[in-house]
Amino acid sequence: MATRWGIVSAGLISNDFVGALKALPEGEHRVVAVAARSLESAKKFASKYGVEKAYGSYDELARDPNVEVVYIGTIQTQHLPVASLMIQAGKHVLCEKPLCMNVKEVKQLIQLAKEKKVFLMEAVWSRFFPVYQELTRRIQSGEIGDVVQVICSFGKSIEDVTRMVRRETGGGATLDLGLYTVQFTTLVMGGDKPQKVLACGHLNDNVNYPMWAPESLESSSGKYESLLPKTGHIFNFENSQGLMYEAVEVRRCLNEGLLESPVMTHKESLTNAEVMEKMRTQVGVKFDQDD
Ligand SMILES: NC(=O)c1ccc[n+]([C@@H]2O[C@H](COP(=O)([O-])OP(=O)(O)OC[C@H]3O[C@@H](n4cnc5c(N)ncnc54)[C@H](OP(=O)(O)O)[C@@H]3O)[C@@H](O)[C@H]2O)c1
Repeated sequence: MATRWGIVSAGLISNDFVGALKALPEGEHRVVAVAARSLESAKKFASKYGVEKAYGSYDELARDPNVEVVYIGTIQTQHLPVASLMIQAGKHVLCEKPLCMNVKEVKQLIQLAKEKKVFLMEAVWSRFFPVYQELTRRIQSGEIGDVVQVICSFGKSIEDVTRMVRRETGGGATLDLGLYTVQFTTLVMGGDKPQKVLACGHLNDNVNYPMWAPESLESSSGKYESLLPKTGHIFNFENSQGLMYEAVEVRRCLNEGLLESPVMTHKESLTNAEVMEKMRTQVGVKFDQDD
């Protein structure tokens, strides 16, 4: 039997999620309803993707007995109230990242899911890419040695500007953008030359980008590649086709009666929230939800 999805919000990522499902077998994933704050927007979404029902409020979707699991694609300020509404109604939930605005909210939501005995997962889609799984395997097997340091850069920057990625036009990260950091450093150091410059990077025809939705992996033990299917769907975000992997995981968990995914656990969602809260608190960011 197919997993029966309800989609909350008709925004950018919801479009991508439903688009990504198209690459999965119809007999396994069915989008049975979509809800948006306006009925018009929900109807437009429904007709674009052939969704059976369109609702002009999230509450109506929560009350639809045909919806088994809800994908929440609203902006994050709405994650706690909307996910709580769905969980209270007995729905399983896959909620976009970040799960909530702060630690307090994450704890509250996890507690509610446990009480209601429903599946809840933060949609950290990267985790379900075959490349991330291969990465995990290589680390756990010890085949790349002991990992003693992780330096990670999101790395989104210049690729939309053709001139900046082409060698023939003086492109690359160094001249256009790196210059600002070099000149700042030189200014602060009183114009002195650095004693040593260490640089590393990838040439742009070989970059394993994007790190959060990758199709390849390289380590001392070799190269691994897992390409996304090409369905022709036009997505809003890079490699959004890979959202299908988390949908597969949700279906697997539901079929096996799991209330959380062992790959993206409640404990890890809480850890993520704690780390992010520490980071933003240190730089002075406070949300209304913190009070
Ligand atoms: N996994 C990924 O790759 C990925 C990529 C992008 C974003 N995200 C996450 O997905 C979530 C949505 O991002 P998005 O880019 O899809 O955002 P978006 O299109 O700007 O907004 C998503 C939906 O949120 C609701 N919304 C927007 N503004 C609101 C407001 N002021 N008050 C209440 N509701 C509002 C709307 O729902 P209605 O349609 O019901 O009106 C809107 O369609 C975020 O949490 C983001 O972190 C994930």
